[in-house]
Amino acid sequence: MNNTMQALVKGAPGRGLEMQTVAVPQVGPNEVLIQVEKTAICGTDLHIFLWDEWAQRTIQTPLVIGHEFMGRIVQMGDGVTGYALNQRVSAEGHVVCGMCRNCRAGKPHLCPNTQGIGVNRNGAFAEYVAVPASNLWPIPDEIPSELAAFFDPFGNAAHCALQFDLVGEDVLITGAGPIGIIAAGIAKHVGARHIVVTDVNDYRLGLASDMGATRIVNVKNESLADVVKALDIDGFDIGLEMSGNPQAFNDMLASMYHGGHVALLGILPKDTGIDWDTVIFRGLELHGIYGRRMYETWYKMTQMTLTGFPLRKVLTHHLPVDAWSEGFDLMERGACGKVVVDWTGDIS
Ligand SMILES: NC(=O)c1ccc[n+]([C@@H]2O[C@H](COP(=O)([O-])OP(=O)(O)OC[C@H]3O[C@@H](n4cnc5c(N)ncnc54)[C@H](O)[C@@H]3O)[C@@H](O)[C@H]2O)c1
Ligand SMILES: [Zn+2]
Ligand SMILES: [Zn+2]
Repeated sequence: MNNTMQALVKGAPGRGLEMQTVAVPQVGPNEVLIQVEKTAICGTDLHIFLWDEWAQRTIQTPLVIGHEFMGRIVQMGDGVTGYALNQRVSAEGHVVCGMCRNCRAGKPHLCPNTQGIGVNRNGAFAEYVAVPASNLWPIPDEIPSELAAFFDPFGNAAHCALQFDLVGEDVLITGAGPIGIIAAGIAKHVGARHIVVTDVNDYRLGLASDMGATRIVNVKNESLADVVKALDIDGFDIGLEMSGNPQAFNDMLASMYHGGHVALLGILPKDTGIDWDTVIFRGLELHGIYGRRMYETWYKMTQMTLTGFPLRKVLTHHLPVDAWSEGFDLMERGACGKVVVDWTGDIS
């Protein structure tokens, strides 16, 4: 193996990314080196590309970005057991401390010392990435690599949606980005009744519909209040906020049934206002969601994929690595579902 590799790097503050030659990561104790085969572009990567306010206060350059990936184990550090060379794996993108109260209580998704792969440490948009062995998730042979590449956002959707008993419930999902689209599929898979998805992008609403939404709403043309009336329901039992848009969030609160549950996944601007009267007098429960449950969400995703969950429907683009910038352009224009980038020359 060479000791240099190609990697997509945020070299300095400002818009853009560059493909650079950098050193292959060193593997420490309890870590593995993975030869990356497929990666997927996340909204987080787009934030880093665009160098928005969040990226400016979060990212230290230079950084190899990317956290949605799969590949094969090519090297194992001291102390790694239970894995084999050449094994196909994905990995949880949150590296936790293992020492804090929540980690030790078996709740590492609530670790306050979480470090993000491709955010706070070098990431996976590269020929090789080093991750702690404890973050690995083995991929069964039956699951294609291009789907395994985006278990991370599938996990955001699954962790969020599976917080609640959705069977027979009326569910509102605001935002038909890849995560909202997958969440619509999960709500359908587990047996929700009405699954209403809002966005301002008709193409993405079409994908949500294909995935299982029972009613799609372009809020540029139609009001959610009218849709609630037309459905003849008192309001939604479950709300999954997946847009990060303040208007969408407040429209969601206004259309919840009394006693409803709202999960907040979309990252709202700091100054987002909220109508507390609605929360209080309707007895709403708001729940912040970060990441995935380790590793129960990964288990559920794997089993759902093995038993027919239509994850492939959200995969709209599978590009060779040379076309990586086209992927970011599609993301910026919202002209895609999930975009997967292949690092091996094998696009089948
Ligand atoms: N909490 C977490 O752990 C976590 C993890 C991953 C992503 N996120 C966040 O979750 C959200 C969803 O992720 P994604 O990758 O699907 O993002 P995305 O940006 O692709 O999707 C957001 C969607 O919201 C839509 N939207 C914009 N204005 C709207 C409005 N007024 N009403 C309804 N929809 C509107 C956009 O058109 C877009 O399709 C993002 O905010 C992302 O930053 C959070
Ligand atoms: Zn992601
Ligand atoms: Zn911890």
